[in-house]
Order: sequence, then structure tokens, then C-alpha cells
Amino acid sequence: MRKKIAAGNWKMNTTFDGGKQLISEIIAGMAANPPEQTSEEMLVVLGTPFITLKKAANLVKNQPQIKIAAQNCYSEEKGAYTGEISVEMIKSTGAEFIIIGHSERREYFNESFEMLAKKVDLTLKYGLTPIFCCGEKLETREAGAHFDLVKRQVEGSLFHLNAEEISKVVIAYEPVWAIGTGVTASPAQAQEMHAFIRKTIADKYGKVLADNITILYGGSVGAKNAEELFSQPDVDGGLVGGASLKAEDFVTIINSFD
Ligand code: 13P
Repeated sequence: MRKKIAAGNWKMNTTFDGGKQLISEIIAGMAANPPEQTSEEMLVVLGTPFITLKKAANLVKNQPQIKIAAQNCYSEEKGAYTGEISVEMIKSTGAEFIIIGHSERREYFNESFEMLAKKVDLTLKYGLTPIFCCGEKLETREAGAHFDLVKRQVEGSLFHLNAEEISKVVIAYEPVWAIGTGVTASPAQAQEMHAFIRKTIADKYGKVLADNITILYGGSVGAKNAEELFSQPDVDGGLVGGASLKAEDFVTIINSFD
């Protein structure tokens, strides 16, 4: 059975001390309101800024249900790339996940399908889990080209992987028009695209493998809409931006699985 995940993407928010505080509040909130699922069934993943990773990993060391994610990595393994952060460096902090291909990185940092494929490869090489993001802008949806684009994003950065490799990838569908806008995809829209992504994977790798891939929804997920979104059959959890910065809301989201 595929794992459920409630993931937070803090983006460029929280200082070092603020990040420590937020993690402490989330741990306390989960202790006061424990999820029904075991850590085999559901994980909480916190995507913190790089500067917080090591501290965050230490703070959750005794919390088997909580894992730490970086929000990006560089597409080369090591060397003269001033200011960049490698997968090996991220691994050395104790983080276990890396968010790859977020629409903000595609848009503001021109990350191409090929570059994202290299990041996925390195993440898997070092034994970490990629959370691979895909999703269309509003004009693409309005033009009716959203399925085609998402298919190309998934194929272009993941379909060079063999079955064993792709089975380790988590996918996050994040329609750009829903990110930070307060406009959430309807549960039906999310379900439709998630089922499409799963079928795209099934057509290449087979249904058994596709049925085991975790596909998260991201875009204005909050304490009020998480339960309905997560109840869709192909929605296995969320990648949450703004609401993951408020411990109370995020703990409610964590507790929104059936
Ligand atoms: P919001 O939840 O703030 O819309 O952000 C979603 C997102 O981009 C998560 O990666």
C-alpha cells in the first residue's frame, strides 16, 4: 500500500530560531493530537530552509513519523559551484527528502526538464527521496493543455528511470494557479489529474508499480479543505506552503487523513 504524506514546504520563511520554534510546536501539537496512522502508513515531512536542516533532523530524531526535506539541491555532484548545495551535503544533515522542480524554481530559476532529471538522479544515488513537483499555469489549463504539459513534465524528468528507481519517487501535483492564491483545485480537479498521472506511470511501468506511487496535491491546502482533498482516491496527501508555517493548522492537516 502506498504511503500517505503530509509535507510542508516552508519556502524562504523562518529564521534559524523561528524554525526551531515551529518544529517544537509541531512535535507538541502531534503529541497532543496524535495521528491515527502509524509511521508505516503516514509520514510528516518538513521542508525547511537549508540553514535549518541539521537542527531540524536532530529535533525529530526520536519522532519516527517526522522526516526532514530540503527544498532544492544542485544538479551537479560537487565542485566549483559557488553558493550551491549538493545532495551529499543535504544527506549529511540527516534530511531524507528533497523537493525537486517546484514551480517557483522552474519559473524564477529556469530549471529545465533535463536539469531536474539530473537532480532526481543524484537524489536517488545518495539514497534520498525526491518529491518531484509538476503542474500547469492557469493559461495552460484554460487552453486545455494541462494534461499534456503534466505528462511532458513527468516523462521529461522521470521516465529515464528504471522501475526500481521510479518506485522511490514521490510526485506532487501543484497547479501553479492554486499556489499561494487561496484558490484550491477542487477535489474533483485534483483527483482527475492525480488519476491521469498514475495512469501515465502505469502505461510505462505497469499498474502495480503506479498503484504504489505516492502522489501529493499542493496549492492552497489548509486546515479547512485538507480532509476533502485527502479523501480523493488518488490524492495521497499534500505539499503545503503557507499553512505549514502555522503549527496548529499544519497539525490539523496532518490529522486530515481517513
Ligand atoms: P501554498 O500552500 O501556500 O499555496 O503553497 C503550495 C506550495 O507551493 C507547496 O509547495
